[in-house]
Amino acid sequence: MLPQRDQTDSGSREPEVAVPRPAMASERERVPEMPDADKSPVVAIANRLPIRPGDGGWELSPGGLATALRPVMRTRSGAWVGWDGGSKGMPATLPGLRTRLLPISLSVAQVRQYYHGFANATLWPLLHDAIEKPRFERGWWRSYQDVNSAFAGAALAALSDCPGAIAWVHDYHLALVPRLLRERRPDQPIGFFLHIPWPAPEIFARVPWRQEILLGMLGADVVSFHAERYRDNFVRASASLLADVGVQVNGSTIVLPDQRQVSTTTAPISIDTAEYRRLAADPETAAQIAGLTDQFRGRSLLLGVDRLDYTKGIVERLLAVEALLERRQDLRTKVAFLQVAVPSRDNVVEYRTLRAAVEGHIGRINGKFTEPGSDVPVHYLHRSLPSEQLAAYYAVADMMLVTPLIDGMNLVAKEYVTVQHARHGSGSMILSEFTGASSELREAIPCNPFDTEGLSLRVEHALALSHSARRAAITAMARYVAAHDVHRWVARQLRDIAAAARTGGRARMDRQLVAASQPGPARSPGPPASRSRQGRRPDGARRH
Ligand code: ADP
Ligand code: F6P
Repeated sequence: MLPQRDQTDSGSREPEVAVPRPAMASERERVPEMPDADKSPVVAIANRLPIRPGDGGWELSPGGLATALRPVMRTRSGAWVGWDGGSKGMPATLPGLRTRLLPISLSVAQVRQYYHGFANATLWPLLHDAIEKPRFERGWWRSYQDVNSAFAGAALAALSDCPGAIAWVHDYHLALVPRLLRERRPDQPIGFFLHIPWPAPEIFARVPWRQEILLGMLGADVVSFHAERYRDNFVRASASLLADVGVQVNGSTIVLPDQRQVSTTTAPISIDTAEYRRLAADPETAAQIAGLTDQFRGRSLLLGVDRLDYTKGIVERLLAVEALLERRQDLRTKVAFLQVAVPSRDNVVEYRTLRAAVEGHIGRINGKFTEPGSDVPVHYLHRSLPSEQLAAYYAVADMMLVTPLIDGMNLVAKEYVTVQHARHGSGSMILSEFTGASSELREAIPCNPFDTEGLSLRVEHALALSHSARRAAITAMARYVAAHDVHRWVARQLRDIAAAARTGGRARMDRQLVAASQPGPARSPGPPASRSRQGRRPDGARRH
């Protein structure tokens, strides 16, 4: 196990930021075991385990990461360390999987402070451009440190059982884990993937523990992001906020005080397109499509599908629909808008407030625009749906409204174009320019969701597009997604981690040779004293 953080730390005293330590003599003697990206076992470390209770017992969850890693879990040994979500009796693995499932149990206080608190009321809003105000509580931070230590401890045990494994750490819940692993296993290949955005350095600088979080992630060999702008923001934050502990930036590489190099990459995640094509052709999906076609006959169906999250721009979307119906009376009986909202994080007050706001807007709009004897203009499902039903909604929707205020990627956009194309559809997609997906799906109709009237005009424009224009756009986007599916993403991630670890291993051995040829103890390559006093503003400018 890792040493526990000093429990006597009351939180009133700010801990010193420790600079990553240079290798110890005993570690220098070990020759790094070089991973082979195509064969190595993989130890995944993510907040949640990828299984859930289903009708016939435990099954893989449908989430993006579980789907992405399914082939890896079937073909290679390894483990997945994750929170059990409070479920008891989880199996050690599932039939057909070689991966062992290593559940972490969290206490009620840890769920409140680590998951609902620091992960989802501090880091989530902070990293989403602080569109809701992040809350900073020292108790939450301590819990986050403790839980990250527990995850790292379980991961270290798993890595000891899997020689030559790649450690692959996921998301903002576990930002401290890469460094905790590095401290114990200097030659371990480690990747970190952030599934959400990274804000401008000025915004990230607001978190009191900014250096610990950055240095935690920089324990990895590769730190990856969905979009170039998020990667660039992270590199600039490292340059400005870590200069005084001797961290330097060289292009896309970040150099730590002990000269260890960390690559940063842009690697947009994707979906399992073959699975969505299969779903599109499934008889159960076809049956659902028939029912929905009847339900919405004579109306154009506009669709929104999201977790009920304030980043998704659901309120703005509803205001745009309202503005459209206000302006175009003729559309009130010709258009229906369906919002599917998955319940999410409802122990966090901002999520409860959002739900009340969304439901209030829907009630008002329907009260205002429902014609007597006619259907309501806005339909609302507050639940998770079976995959076939979700695919049926994608298939029948004439327009998909993907309008996040900010979103790391947004897989829903990729799912919609894939199902539409597989069913020979010609739906149009309005896509927020503030999503990771907008850098890839260039044929979508772009929108700025903060401008709700402008958004309503985009919807009106999309309703008037020709069938051939819509079909051409869907085809182009579906082809792009098929050529950049999640299996390609996984292969590239694992290859990048293995390659960076090899480069790092060579650099490390070079340093060891230099150290061994010099008399006396290995010198810490820490920063010159003058640099540590320079201090920079988050935008990279020197303080005056
Ligand atoms: P996020 O990761 O922020 O929730 P994404 O759009 O990237 O957003 O991923 C959401 C995932 O959740 C998609 O794979 C989508 O199919 C799934 N999903 C969204 N709404 C529902 C729903 N009502 N029922 C089941 N799955 C859903
Ligand atoms: O996309 C970010 C993310 O945190 C994913 O990692 C996760 O699958 C999803 O949102 C749902 O969040 P939660 O695990 O908090 O329900």
